[in-house]
Amino acid sequence: MKQIVISKYGAPEVLQVRDAETPTPKSGEILIKNHFSGVNFSEVMARMKLYPGAPKPPCTIGGECSGIIEAIGENVSGFSVGQRVMAFSKFKSYASHVCSPAGMVMPLPDEFSLEQGAAFPVVYITAYQMLFDLGNLRTGDTVLIHGAGGGVGTAAIQMAKSLEIKIIGTASKWKHPRLKEMGVDCCIDYQHEDVVEKVKSFTNNKGVDVIIDPVGAKNWKMSYKCLGIMGKLIIFGDQDLVTGFKLNPFTAIKELWSMPTYKPMSLMSSNKSIMGYHLGRMQGAEDKLTRSVLALNKMAIQGHISPIINKVFPYTDAPGAHRYMQERKNFGKIIIDFSQAE
Ligand SMILES: NC(=O)c1ccc[n+]([C@@H]2O[C@H](COP(=O)([O-])OP(=O)(O)OC[C@H]3O[C@@H](n4cnc5c(N)ncnc54)[C@H](OP(=O)(O)O)[C@@H]3O)[C@@H](O)[C@H]2O)c1
Repeated sequence: MKQIVISKYGAPEVLQVRDAETPTPKSGEILIKNHFSGVNFSEVMARMKLYPGAPKPPCTIGGECSGIIEAIGENVSGFSVGQRVMAFSKFKSYASHVCSPAGMVMPLPDEFSLEQGAAFPVVYITAYQMLFDLGNLRTGDTVLIHGAGGGVGTAAIQMAKSLEIKIIGTASKWKHPRLKEMGVDCCIDYQHEDVVEKVKSFTNNKGVDVIIDPVGAKNWKMSYKCLGIMGKLIIFGDQDLVTGFKLNPFTAIKELWSMPTYKPMSLMSSNKSIMGYHLGRMQGAEDKLTRSVLALNKMAIQGHISPIINKVFPYTDAPGAHRYMQERKNFGKIIIDFSQAE
């Protein structure tokens, strides 16, 4: 089989193709002939030595894929060889074959293409659990989505839209026309506009009910000011750690140094909440993941969600995929094509 490895920490070119032994599924596992792998910002961070808990190079990479079941280990039920599936895989989905525990494999909804299957597991479950499990968003609420044009952002917009939630989105200016087409009510060019002022003006000074914020320390402080009464700020990434294509220790130290501190008593008296979310740390709460997948399946059948594929890269150009993401060129998801790789 073919797999992509992070040969050493560094710029996108450290991603290299290598040959490896195709795995045989052990008890409880499923072997998938991978067709497409989703590209996630966390993989950029792992490549740059910025993702705590990722394996050390040389190592495999990738968190999600979609393809056809090729073999099934013992003690697995409910799946069949030849079935179209999508799956989570811990740090190994950039490969022509992916072996995953059966609990991490999901049947592909009929509504989705194989390409869309690779763009679903990480960003849709993350967006769903933040908006509805943590955020408890209800019809009529207002949500502020940072990074609205990205993978998580576009997934969150589709779901919020299905419940008639008012949406404010921040993104680079060139993404605004497409965000408006998707139903975003207020687009903010965060690089040139005052986000707090624009949020206040859009909400008549009420503030928003839920904010999902993967940007970083400075942004979290600003987001906090945008919260209304009983508003919740959900922190789920730190993109400000990433400047340039290689780790910059000064940026990282500056970012860690500027972390906000929140005082419990002032959270109470201001009726605001700060929450954290990490999909990669859900071990022991698989029931909650299953619940989200079932709810998302319903949304797919009802036509409320449909992953947006922005660009497909051949597996021989994984560096190009990472570079494209870091150059902020994607609207929706980037995926890598392994369909022809053996
Ligand atoms: N905690 C979790 O479980 C979890 C799960 C999934 C994703 N995440 C986090 O969610 C965020 C979005 O992930 P994604 O995979 O959907 O990626 P994405 O949003 O598609 O990422 C690319 C976009 O991020 C924005 N961006 C902001 N700072 C950036 C920087 N320093 N370098 C490059 N782009 C930057 C750019 O959009 P604009 O130019 O429009 O701002 C860019 O187009 C990431 O921080 C990721 O780590 C967390």
